[in-house]
Amino acid sequence: MSELNKIALKIISNGKGILAADESNGTMTKRLEAVNVTSTPENRLLFRETLFSSESMKKYIGGVILYDETINQTTNFGKSIPDLISSSGAIPGIKVDSGAKSLANSPEEKITEGLDGLRERLNKYYDLGARFTKWRGVYNISNKYPSKLAINSNAHALSRYSALVQESKMVPIVEPEVLMEGNHSADLCFKKTSEVIEKCFEELILHKVDLSGIILKPNMILPGNQSKDKISNEEISQKTIECLKNSVPSEVPGIAFLSGGQSEIEATENLNLINQNNNTKFIMTYSYGRALQQSALRIWSKNIKDIKVTQNTFNHRAKMCSLAAQGKWSNELENK
Ligand code: 13P
Repeated sequence: MSELNKIALKIISNGKGILAADESNGTMTKRLEAVNVTSTPENRLLFRETLFSSESMKKYIGGVILYDETINQTTNFGKSIPDLISSSGAIPGIKVDSGAKSLANSPEEKITEGLDGLRERLNKYYDLGARFTKWRGVYNISNKYPSKLAINSNAHALSRYSALVQESKMVPIVEPEVLMEGNHSADLCFKKTSEVIEKCFEELILHKVDLSGIILKPNMILPGNQSKDKISNEEISQKTIECLKNSVPSEVPGIAFLSGGQSEIEATENLNLINQNNNTKFIMTYSYGRALQQSALRIWSKNIKDIKVTQNTFNHRAKMCSLAAQGKWSNELENK
């Protein structure tokens, strides 16, 4: 087993998943202002250190994705953030792309930037304690999108990123996110997501990326959020598994889904069914941002000094996600 494969498995095995706490300052400001908390470096740190020092970190969280500001912060009780995460047994990770910008010659689509100077930044993050990284490509669905140009250019960037990350002895999370915004059907999401993922693997192989040392972070196969084509959670799970079974090479150790705007319960229930129906050899777990943090953030905003109540809320959510990653979640356990 390669070192990279060991790291990947440590992050996603045994019912553990990933806490995606890598919101950029811009995104975090939107999240905080939505619950009437001022977005300062101190408040962003306080919310995050409250989560990272929760009991559930030891049992349910294998890795935490951080943003540049956070990986450089020191907690209010004097530990560095990467040390706090490592002391719970989880692995610190870091978002290394610099965001999605308008794609030249197809300006309604996006290309993710951040390759320039990446090798040097990776070395710095390794020294700070990071052992895995994230880069997100983003695609919108309509009849003409994502275009071949967006699919090819984002696959190329994700692959150059992955090769550099493995060179730096870290595990790349490869995140091609096909967005749920729109009125498209789940079948169209299936078709476009398959094209996107297949192209990513074609490029990853061309760039000689060790597929046993990556984690794929895809969207689930869902109808658009404005679609009339509602389908059952059972169908969502079956379409998601079929898509991944057809388009992901068997060397990949695991798949950690993004929540992408699903509610906490939807993201948990769908992951649970995916695991109950999983007929592949891939580990299927979570790498949730909103679906792990939403309730905790809401409760925390009522009294940002009340650490216990925020941690209890987060502990429950993380436990439910972990049960779902093992196909053992139920409505009764959710409401107990
Ligand atoms: P969500 O689970 O909120 O979609 O965030 C995951 C993520 O990391 C998106 O890049």
